[in-house]
Amino acid sequence: MYRSHTCGQLRLKDAGDKVTLAGWVQTVRKFGAITFIDLRDRYGITQLLFGEELNQELDQNPLGREFVLRATGIVQERSNKNANLATGDIEINISSFKILNKSAVPPFTIQDETDGGDDLRMRYRYLDLRRNAVKKNIELRYAVSRAARNYLHQQEFIDIETPFLIKSTPEGARDFVVPSRMNPGQFYALPQSPQTFKQLLMVSGYDRYYQVVKCFRDEDLRADRQPEFTQIDCEMSFVGQEDILNMFEGMIKHIFKEVKGIDYAEPVERMSWDDAMWNYGTDKPDTRFGMKITNLKTPYTVFETKDSSKKALPLGEGLGGAFGVFKNAETVVAIAVPGAAEYSRKQTDELAEWVKRPQIAMGGLAFVKVNADGTFKSSFDKFFNADQLKALAAFCNAGPDNLILILGGAEEKTRKAISELRLEMAERLGLRKPGEFKLLWVLDFPLFEYSAEENRWDARHHPFTSPKPQHVDIMINNNPVIENAEKYLEHPYADIKANAYDMVLNGNEIGGGSIRIYQRELQEKMFAALGMSKEEAIHKFGFLLGAFEFGAPPHGGIAFGFDRLCAILGGSESIRDFIAFPKNNAGRDVMLDAPSAIDEKQLDELNLKLDVK
Ligand code: AMO
Repeated sequence: MYRSHTCGQLRLKDAGDKVTLAGWVQTVRKFGAITFIDLRDRYGITQLLFGEELNQELDQNPLGREFVLRATGIVQERSNKNANLATGDIEINISSFKILNKSAVPPFTIQDETDGGDDLRMRYRYLDLRRNAVKKNIELRYAVSRAARNYLHQQEFIDIETPFLIKSTPEGARDFVVPSRMNPGQFYALPQSPQTFKQLLMVSGYDRYYQVVKCFRDEDLRADRQPEFTQIDCEMSFVGQEDILNMFEGMIKHIFKEVKGIDYAEPVERMSWDDAMWNYGTDKPDTRFGMKITNLKTPYTVFETKDSSKKALPLGEGLGGAFGVFKNAETVVAIAVPGAAEYSRKQTDELAEWVKRPQIAMGGLAFVKVNADGTFKSSFDKFFNADQLKALAAFCNAGPDNLILILGGAEEKTRKAISELRLEMAERLGLRKPGEFKLLWVLDFPLFEYSAEENRWDARHHPFTSPKPQHVDIMINNNPVIENAEKYLEHPYADIKANAYDMVLNGNEIGGGSIRIYQRELQEKMFAALGMSKEEAIHKFGFLLGAFEFGAPPHGGIAFGFDRLCAILGGSESIRDFIAFPKNNAGRDVMLDAPSAIDEKQLDELNLKLDVK
């Protein structure tokens, strides 16, 4: 037997017992003739005491950091207790030890606060994984997976694996491809998701499917994106949107309870895509705080909603009337930031610089301070008198001590910018509290999105998403071709809403899905709407169209971004920390040094000749 206990196990009640531990040397502290060693394993740290009698042996076999050690001794109460350690009341008085393996000096300290930079830690990821902070993330990941699996199992879902060497499944990214040796000149694509397979499984009658599955997408990386990532992928038959929302709201709440001990009792808020865009400028708003956006110019009709009464500013010609910058802007939007009226000139100047950064790229920032005494100070006092500023403040729902921030510019860019500014201000004011979780369903997405590059429609979710039943006729009865690019919003297809839903957690899209098309005709119409010829549709998706002819049931599903969910539950927005062996921002595994060149022989076998540009 290598060890009798782990390094996290022993307590005061075990005093007097003879034990054997095995683990890694975290620290060596010498005090005259005695030596203390902190021994670490996956379960914790235990202090070992090497008395005088072992001195000589220790001198002959000096221990260094990360040496692998096995030691036997008697558990005893510590005189100098450590309340921060679960084993802090005891130590082991060692009688014999064996060095199981030596270690080179590690390139960074294996501690919570390490001195290793990102790159170094990625190169030695197997050492980074020894650190408690990383280990906690990996354990949390397992807890989330276990909770999800338990819930889905209880609900009679079955886990079915689907292949990785397949044909392209469009999820909006580029495919990773794999050359086929046995079929020269031909390539498999790695799945961007198991989308078509799970739909086929519904046709096969496995009406509740799930899989915790790797997906591969060749796209630009960000903190919340990896080229290979994991989904909790699910599909159900004989369901409508309401069934799916309830089932997976249940799953997330179960995960919250099991993993975080949080009773998320209230129903998850639901918001239409229109309202999300109108009020927050994004389809994944962080609803932990308010600070809704006010539109200071008549917005695009696409953002108009029945319950949004604010259409124009009651200032004659509106804000644009007197102020040239806003007069010429397509969109002018504002947020009222609570408690920020005291911002100094320096601080507002700094905010103006913040919106000019390349990531935001706005021309500038206007502001109105609503002082506590009812007076106003704005960056455009020349153009507005006190009464007008008062009307503006009232229109923005800005109370005393609010700082109104205003951006003007092109529609999409400005909306995105104000959404980012809203998050930034919330961050500065401490409104994005790490331990607070707010879920949101975003519903009623447009089915299509306009591709200016190709002057045609793209599927906003994916081509298998069904239109709302009341919009099927619009799709069937109208020609998808866009005659006038300038007026694409007037095309009937712009009004079609999808049977699609996203789950948002604290401003992050953690899941998305839809009720699917299950009739061949409608699916063909969809492919045609996306500019695919009949032949192309058959070539790419003939298998699915064929399956729809053999009694495809109505079905729908959802996929959760497993890494993202773990990261947010773990209090981080970077998914890398929650993946055992992640890629860096350039899509490289710096530990393996992959991707890398392959040798001539392999290329030959694959019938490939490289001509790298
Ligand atoms: P979608 O493309 O929205 O839907 O993906 C589902 C969820 O996966 C996560 N995600 C990612 N996580 C890390 N890195 C990435 N590169 C990445 N891309 C996506 C997001 C997202 O919400 N087949 C459909 C699902 C369905 O319709 O059932 C799909 O894949 O959290």
